[in-house]
Amino acid sequence: MNGKTPHIVQYQGSKRLLAPQILQHMPLKFSRLLEPFSGMAAITIAVAKENRAMNYHINDINEPVIRILEKAIDSPSELIDKYRKVWNEQFTFNDGHVEHFYKVREQFNDGEQTAENMLYLLARCVKGSVRYGRNGKFNQSPDKRRHGTNPKNISDNVRAISFLLKGRVSFSALDYRAIFEYAQKGDLVYLDPPYQGVTNSRDNRYLLGLGYDEFSKSITYLDEKGIDYIISYDGECGGKEYGLDLPKSLNCTKFLLNAGISSQATLLGKKDTTYESLYVSKNIAGNIKAIPEQITLMECVV
Ligand SMILES: C[S@@+](CC[C@H](N)C(=O)[O-])C[C@H]1O[C@@H](n2cnc3c(N)ncnc32)[C@H](O)[C@@H]1O
Repeated sequence: MNGKTPHIVQYQGSKRLLAPQILQHMPLKFSRLLEPFSGMAAITIAVAKENRAMNYHINDINEPVIRILEKAIDSPSELIDKYRKVWNEQFTFNDGHVEHFYKVREQFNDGEQTAENMLYLLARCVKGSVRYGRNGKFNQSPDKRRHGTNPKNISDNVRAISFLLKGRVSFSALDYRAIFEYAQKGDLVYLDPPYQGVTNSRDNRYLLGLGYDEFSKSITYLDEKGIDYIISYDGECGGKEYGLDLPKSLNCTKFLLNAGISSQATLLGKKDTTYESLYVSKNIAGNIKAIPEQITLMECVV
C-alpha cells in the first residue's frame, strides 16, 4: 500500500507524526509487535503498512478504545454504517449538533459504550482528548466549531486499516503489565504510557495515571526476560525537561526525537522545538535502519 498512513480518528498523544522516526529504531522484520498502551494504535498501523511484523497485539486499559480498533479491523462495514448513523443524527437533532454530542455522551455514560459512540465522542470532542471525571464518567466537552470526522473519511481509513491488519491482530483491554506476562522472545514491545507531566496529577488526560517507580520496575522485568522494547517517554522543550529520565540501571539507550515546534511555544511567540524521548532496549539500539542523512535523532547521555 502506497501513500498516506491511514488513521481512524484524532487521539491526544497520538504517535502518528512521529511514527517514521520511531520505526527507524525497529528491526527491519520481527515476528510480533505488542502495543500495551495502544490508544489509536498509530505505531501498529505504521509497522503493518511497512509489513515489518507478522502478528500484532493491541491493548489499552480503556475498553471502548479497544472496541473501536477491534470493530475497525474485524468488522469495518459494521462500524462505518453505525458511525454514519450516529454522525448523521446530529443534523436532524432538534436541539442542534452540540446538544447531540451531549446526548451521545450521556448514553455512553449510562452504559452504551459501543465502538460507534466512543468513535463519535472522540471525533467531536476537544483535541481528541479522552477525559473522565472522578466519578468515572466521560466528561470531555465538544469542539463546538466542528461536526467531527466525516463518515467518508472514517470509511476510507477504516477500510485501509482493516486491509492491513485483519486476521493478524489480537486485542485486550488490560493493565499494561498483563501484556508483559504474555510477551515472548522475538516480540517487540512498543510502549507509549501517559506522560509523567499528566500522571498522578489532577490532569486526567488519559484514563489512568501510572507511577514512575512502578513503571521503571516493570521495564526491569522485560530486561530480565530478554524482551526487546521501545518506550516513548516525556521529553523537553526550550531546554526545559518534562518528567524524570528512566533509571540508568535499565538496559536501554535514550534518544531524542524532533517533534517540531511546540504549539504552546508558538502561542507565546517563541520558536522552541519539542523533543520526545525514546528509550530503545540494548539488543536493538544498534540496529537503526535509517539512511544516515535521514536520521533526525540525537543520541544523548543518560
Ligand atoms: C499516550 S496514549 C497512547 C497513544 C498512542 N500511542 C497513539 O498513537 O494513539 C496512552 C494510552 O495509555 C492508556 N493507558 C493508561 N494507563 C494504562 C494502563 N495502566 N495500562 C494500559 N493502558 C493504559 C490510555 O488509555 C491511553 O490511550
